[in-house]
Amino acid sequence: MDRPIGMFDSGFGGLTVARALIDLLPDEDLVYIGDTGRYPYGSRPQAEVREFARQLAWSLVNDHDAKAIVVACNTAAAAALDELVDELPVPVIGVIEPGARALVAATRTGRVGVIGTVGTVMSGAYDRAVAHTGVAVVLTAAACPGFVEFVERGQTSGDEIAILADRLLAPVKAAGVDTLLLGCTHYPYLARVIGQAMGPAVTLVSSADETAFAASAQLREAGLLRLSSTRPAVHRFLSSGDIGWFADLGRRLLGPELAHAGSWEPPVTATDAPIVSH
Ligand code: DGL
Repeated sequence: MDRPIGMFDSGFGGLTVARALIDLLPDEDLVYIGDTGRYPYGSRPQAEVREFARQLAWSLVNDHDAKAIVVACNTAAAAALDELVDELPVPVIGVIEPGARALVAATRTGRVGVIGTVGTVMSGAYDRAVAHTGVAVVLTAAACPGFVEFVERGQTSGDEIAILADRLLAPVKAAGVDTLLLGCTHYPYLARVIGQAMGPAVTLVSSADETAFAASAQLREAGLLRLSSTRPAVHRFLSSGDIGWFADLGRRLLGPELAHAGSWEPPVTATDAPIVSH
């Protein structure tokens, strides 16, 4: 079917999922929105993140005719996945269930960890998703405020982030986890720093590949895969922030598919509409 898959994140993080999806389904058209004008989501109230997620998902459906939505942001999925599944007329795929499945499949000792934004960790979404797998593991979760901001600035290595990582990862290290899930789609860009802080015995798991597999399976089941490739796939990348920066850093992080970026504007809502006096 010649309609694009729609994806969104607060910024550059969802590009880790876009990379996996493009590699797995190279014939699929894609529209990706990075809400860089309003990132980070992780420190915002859940209700606000839910509203942002609804705006982005509905825009992908209404303005871009998306045939499915991939919520490529843990914080948004934790806040809004159930509502989006209920209200959207297309399949919706999140990152949390696929990540939890990959985590419990990878552990050898049953002591596992997840790191994410404050919003994701506080929501308890991973506790529920891991429990839902039915695999008996002990899960330790730690919030890593600040990590997303480093990635959005294009800073993925150096002393500053290494010191922050040592401090923030202390609880999962102390818990003796053998497997750590990167429960924020920005974190794979920090895998080297996180891996160094955790040590070589700890396996890092990212939800990107597992989410791409889940999206592929759901599209196939719904008969929505693009079967004929009479033309190359079109990948569009939009941002609510600085488009030049989105294209430059995005290309560095995702690869050459991000040739240029376009602009996405959030709808003007009743609360932020300018007051016009007559
Ligand atoms: N990539 C988003 C996530 O997976 C980051 C959220 C943020 O902007 O703080 O949670």
